[in-house]
Amino acid sequence: MFKKLSQEFQTPFYCYDQAIIDNKINFLNNLELNFNYNFSFAIKANPNLAIINLFKQKDIGAVVVSSGELYKALRVGFKPSQIIFNGSSKNDFDLKYAVTQKICSINIENIEELKTINDYSREKGLISDIGIRINPGVNAETLSKISTGKSGDKFGIEIDQIDFDMIKNFNHINLKTLSVHIGSQITDHKKLIESYQLIINLADKLNKKGFEIQYLDFGGGFAVIDNGNQGLDFNLWSSELNSIMNHKNYKVIFEPGRFLIADSGYLVSKVDFLKKSGNKNIALLDSSMSEYVRCALYGIDPIIELIDTDQKSEKIKYDIGGGVCESSDFFIRDALLPPLKVGDIIIFKNVGAYGSSMSSNYNSRPRPLEVLFSKDEHRVIRSRDTLEDLCKNEIM
Ligand code: LLP
Repeated sequence: MFKKLSQEFQTPFYCYDQAIIDNKINFLNNLELNFNYNFSFAIKANPNLAIINLFKQKDIGAVVVSSGELYKALRVGFKPSQIIFNGSSKNDFDLKYAVTQKICSINIENIEELKTINDYSREKGLISDIGIRINPGVNAETLSKISTGKSGDKFGIEIDQIDFDMIKNFNHINLKTLSVHIGSQITDHKKLIESYQLIINLADKLNKKGFEIQYLDFGGGFAVIDNGNQGLDFNLWSSELNSIMNHKNYKVIFEPGRFLIADSGYLVSKVDFLKKSGNKNIALLDSSMSEYVRCALYGIDPIIELIDTDQKSEKIKYDIGGGVCESSDFFIRDALLPPLKVGDIIIFKNVGAYGSSMSSNYNSRPRPLEVLFSKDEHRVIRSRDTLEDLCKNEIM
């Protein structure tokens, strides 16, 4: 398939295997969880309309973090009652848009958001369902740049910073949800369980004081198997989760992003140039940190695969970089690979999450085309930016 696609489309482009996405959904749906729950896709991982639509069709909900994502979710046809709005710093427009759409829950992370939501809901004659994202003070022990649940992090609110009695005075909000999300690519299920337990305890306590917390939003963060990284052990996770949820009547929401979409996505790229610099063999690709920024941003090594390269030849070390004018625009250093030739196709695997969604137009590079394939069929789900697209919002 990659060969066929790379003959049809100019590299670099993203492509997604629908069968893998379906498998991931089935996997989650087949987990044995003994309580009421639902999975909602964290759209930030991949906001392409066609991808979001795949999840909608399988009754997965939607988690958004901006007005743009909320718009996309509604445009795809999610019911407002299937949408949750998170976000560490939402602006007035975000909050007002979410209020008027009457979504399932606006999860606040700053006490001041309450006043904006309450005032605007009063103006519109509404009572808005809200949640509070708690900072549980749990170190997820994942990459420090994607950890969000420790004391000192900007996400959520620490419990002792919340005056719950004061919240009761807001007549146009209904505190219905407590949420946590301690980070991404989490492999240690105990960390997740610890964070869940904290908000279960808090919900129990609040409901004894007259609140009506119905939803527990346990966030996302399920790791996928990556270079040198194990995935999350779902057996251990689900059995411990079942035991802490035993006899609890809350409805649980999970917000996986990466788990649902990472493995299905590939970035197909081509070797444009080969050169030597000192003792380094450098390969420069037609993709760059503009198309895939995670290596430069987080210092992670991608999983790469070559097609049509003589795998038996003696391997050579390469530094593989991109076409952007930045010294940090490297995907991987000292990668041991068979000798490369100009024109070789290199595939980046596992890039369905936070790949295209974090791509940019830096260096005025067109954002790449995206293709969805299913068995032998494929279709374009995003066209490559045209040169005119790069100018379209600018005024000379
Ligand atoms: N819920 C909340 C509140 C979140 O902040 C996130 C991701 C998710 C759910 C989904 O997390 P996931 O299941 O995908 O781990 N750009 C980084 C990842 C940032 C994740 C931000 N929050 C990366 O490329 O690794």
